[in-house]
Amino acid sequence: MTYSIGCDHTAIDLKNHVKAHLERRGITVIDQGTFSDERTDYPLYAKKVAEDVQSSTADKGILICGTGIGMSMAANKFNGIRAAAVSDTFSAKASREHNNANILCFGARVVGPGLATMMTDAFIDADYEGGRHQKRVDLIQSYE
Ligand code: RB5
Repeated sequence: MTYSIGCDHTAIDLKNHVKAHLERRGITVIDQGTFSDERTDYPLYAKKVAEDVQSSTADKGILICGTGIGMSMAANKFNGIRAAAVSDTFSAKASREHNNANILCFGARVVGPGLATMMTDAFIDADYEGGRHQKRVDLIQSYE
């Protein structure tokens, strides 16, 4: 299992925390930056992670900015990407089960490391249910 992870300058510490957690779980991590707290632009990292997932270089992605919102907006511009901005474990789990999300987004100004870890685990451990949800996911894809 490989995860691509990216963040902007607001989320360096949280990205490193989540990256370490993924590695403890035996997940291979592609770290797409950013690597310093110098001000930068979140769409640059959303693009890198989205392209890793699009190309199957990574199975899934995690993007962290101040809120998770800008990252999800940018990542969702890429065909085949279903990026979910969440701030609770229920939504993180449901984004996999119902929406077949392939990128998890959250905000370093919204959630702390404990909740980020729990949301990450909920996302990793949940499986897409298919069935009645597939028609809806297909509809989303038909809008690309
Ligand atoms: C940066 O100030 C902030 O706008 C960014 O991290 C993110 O929250 C955007 O959605």
